[in-house]
Amino acid sequence: MMQRWRGIGVGTVLAMLSLSACSSSSDSGSGETAVTTLPPLAKKTSYKVGFVQVWEENNPWRNANTASIQAEAAKRGYELVFETGSGFGATDEVARMNAVIAAKVDVIIIAPQDPTVLAPSIVAARRAGIPVFIEDRSIDNDVAVPGLDYVSYLGSDFTKEGASTAQWLIAHPPAAGVKILELEGTVGSSPAVNRKKGFDAEIAAQPEMTILDSQSGNFNKSEGYATIKPMLAAHPEATVIFSHNDEMSLGVIQALTEMGKKPGDIQIVSIDGEKAGVQAVKDGWIGAIAECNPRFGRICFDTIEQYADGQMIPLQVKNTDRLFDMSTDADSAALDAYIQNEAF
Ligand code: AHR
Repeated sequence: MMQRWRGIGVGTVLAMLSLSACSSSSDSGSGETAVTTLPPLAKKTSYKVGFVQVWEENNPWRNANTASIQAEAAKRGYELVFETGSGFGATDEVARMNAVIAAKVDVIIIAPQDPTVLAPSIVAARRAGIPVFIEDRSIDNDVAVPGLDYVSYLGSDFTKEGASTAQWLIAHPPAAGVKILELEGTVGSSPAVNRKKGFDAEIAAQPEMTILDSQSGNFNKSEGYATIKPMLAAHPEATVIFSHNDEMSLGVIQALTEMGKKPGDIQIVSIDGEKAGVQAVKDGWIGAIAECNPRFGRICFDTIEQYADGQMIPLQVKNTDRLFDMSTDADSAALDAYIQNEAF
């Protein structure tokens, strides 16, 4: 879809925007011109909120993210319209997005599994007059434009997460050299694409370090386990495994244990910070974890209320995440604190 205003629209991505004044023309490609305006949100004491989540089975990160949104909605006395979905796939999520639009919710919070497949659904919600807030995973901004089709994207800096695990590895290289197997997340998803981008760029700047192979384990433990086994068999020289999330790292640990390996034989670096992942740092299996905090409930609902209030909303709100390892937390006190206070 060609949009006449794109030259100015995308340039405003990092700016603060006066949302109520945001309006622009777009060309559908068939010669018609439509007005693009962020839908308003009336100030009310309670809202009917549609929540559209990535479907992932047995993923503590996803469960914690859902629980955070549910808890915050309940705390504020809002009605949450939420279906878990019936299977993995962006088309299933498109169907759930259509359902919340049909339910005429006041506002939508969505974590899009795939940035391309879900983008037209964001535009459809805006056309139906429902303001959309994107959390966790980003969207294709060429199709769904921030500040015009959706209000704001609230998420972690996935590129930085990948880069910070690589930087830790560069500072703590195994004695036998850095020969890496990379386990990627769900193909095409924004965390998989950007974690890879951040990690691979740092490693590419180190001539003595290599990425031997890189394949998707789809962000889950069983596929991480099944994917890493043949990769390890094909590359017995590997000294490092970079896994795009803790669940896949747990699958890697299972595979390494079955091979008779011990903690430290192969260095694992990971992302998320779920309880079992942090425990694996304490046990010596994982060298470092870049945190990806799943608790978006409070910031999402605060931002929605600010929008209804007519306040200026940033087009992008980034989480500040941390990095955990045993060398910086030698007495493991910080890791213990994390497990006790923020485990998921
Ligand atoms: O989008 C966040 C990622 O999604 C988390 O790292 C992962 O565990 C989940 O699958």
